[in-house]
Amino acid sequence: MNKPFVAVAAVDSIAPGKFVKVEVEGRAYIVARVDDRFYAVEDNCSHEDYPLSYGCLDGKRIKCSLHGSRFSLETGQPEDEPADEPIAVFAVEVEGDRIWLDPSRAVNR
Ligand code: FES
Repeated sequence: MNKPFVAVAAVDSIAPGKFVKVEVEGRAYIVARVDDRFYAVEDNCSHEDYPLSYGCLDGKRIKCSLHGSRFSLETGQPEDEPADEPIAVFAVEVEGDRIWLDPSRAVNR
């Protein structure tokens, strides 16, 4: 896998329905697994700059533990109030036994 993709985790390190927090160049991301698909989003709630990694997965959504907004892992869009702005979604690929993240740009902005 070529740049700008960066290897961030081993495939086996994330069980289905779970996520890990990773850091690339000082920025935090969530890499989540739903069934056999992987998703990457910024680790920051758009409502009050709160880490989404304190929350939990709800299907293909990450739920903020502070006020409960859920965000689509596919589009970044909030599905509940109080958040009304999307979070950034990043391209993620699997090659071999590694998960690769492209931190160079959000794919939903
Ligand atoms: S900080 Fe996430 S919903 Fe308020």
